[in-house]
Amino acid sequence: MSGSTKPAKVTGLAHVAIATPDADALAATLVSALGATRGPEELLDGGALRVVFLNLGPVTLELLEPRSRDHTVAKFLEARGPGLHHVSLEVSDLRAALARASSAGIRLIDAEPRAGSHGTSVAFLHPKSLGGVLLELCQAPARKPET
Ligand code: CO
Repeated sequence: MSGSTKPAKVTGLAHVAIATPDADALAATLVSALGATRGPEELLDGGALRVVFLNLGPVTLELLEPRSRDHTVAKFLEARGPGLHHVSLEVSDLRAALARASSAGIRLIDAEPRAGSHGTSVAFLHPKSLGGVLLELCQAPARKPET
C-alpha cells in the first residue's frame, strides 16, 4: 500500500525451521544434546502439519513434521530429506514488508499474509529470489485489529 507510513523493518529472528519425519526424536536429541526445552506444539494446515517448538536460549527452532503425504513439507522430505526448511524473520508490518520485497523484484510465494502458528501472520518469499533460502516473514499477533 502506498499509503503505509510504517517502515518494513525486520525486528528479529522468529525461528529456524527444520523438516523432519519424526519431531519427537529430533526434539529429544536437541533436549539431551543442547539443553533445549520443549515449547508448544500445534497442528496446522487442517492437521496435515505438526509443528513442535524448541527453545534454546534466545533461539527458537520450529520442527516441521508432515502428517499427510500431500503436504508441501512431505514433498520437501521426499525430494531432499530432512534438513533446514526455512528461516523466519520477525517483521513489524508484514504487509509493508511484502510490498517492499515485491517491488524489489522478489518472487512471493504468499502475496497475502496467512495464518501461522500461535496467532502469527506469515508469508513466504521464494528461495529462487533469495540465494536458495526459503524465507518466512512473521508478524506477531496484533493486540487490537488495525485499520
Ligand atoms: Co516458520
